[in-house]
Amino acid sequence: MRATREPPPGEPPPGPADDVSVRPVDRSSLKAVEAGLANRPATKHRQRFTFQRRGLGLYLIAWEGREPVGHALLRWPGAESSARARAERCPEVEDLHVLPGRRRRKVATRLVEACERLAAERGYATLGLAVGVDNGPARALYERRGFRDAGHGEFAVSGRYWGDDGTPFEGRETCVYLTKPVARD
Ligand SMILES: CC(C)(COP(=O)(O)OP(=O)(O)OC[C@H]1O[C@@H](n2cnc3c(N)ncnc32)[C@H](O)[C@@H]1OP(=O)(O)O)[C@@H](O)C(=O)NCCC(=O)NCCS
Repeated sequence: MRATREPPPGEPPPGPADDVSVRPVDRSSLKAVEAGLANRPATKHRQRFTFQRRGLGLYLIAWEGREPVGHALLRWPGAESSARARAERCPEVEDLHVLPGRRRRKVATRLVEACERLAAERGYATLGLAVGVDNGPARALYERRGFRDAGHGEFAVSGRYWGDDGTPFEGRETCVYLTKPVARD
């Protein structure tokens, strides 16, 4: 019989996570999100819950079993959208993030798939997002899912960012805008 290597306690098994579910945050899960996704301040999670209640978009949380392991904000187009999303008249994905110990297991893929499906279900033909030109992992992920440069050129985005451990910093990133057709068949 071939021995299988057990991952050390507390470490997820290698390979795609098989029990990942993605759903919008709700009041009953907010405390668990604040505790488990400390890569963002609790106030940021609460702001996004309020954003969702105002109907401006959805704050999607990826759960592995009962643990929150990643998030993405799906913003419907409107007055508070980015200039490129307004030009494209598309919803956009913001702040996609997966906890460092849970990466390369298709959690972000599940989050982006959910954004694509929800945008299509709401009747949009295109989904957009800004990505840092130097963010190789994210660019590889989006490229693989069929996002392409929408031709807006490079632009600077500055503001408050957080490190993987939740440490805030003021940053500036050179980005490009990617889009993908998502219309339902
Ligand atoms: C980018 C990020 C969200 C990817 O999350 P993830 O759950 O590890 O991504 P997935 O497992 O779904 O990756 C799917 C594919 O994307 C590509 N990819 C993801 N991470 C990669 C990396 N570090 N290097 C190269 N390719 C990568 C690969 O093609 C991968 O498929 P593979 O593992 O079969 O090769 C994660 O690294 C992260 O949170 N980074 C910090 C925040 C960030 O940069 N967010 C994006 C903002 S635009």
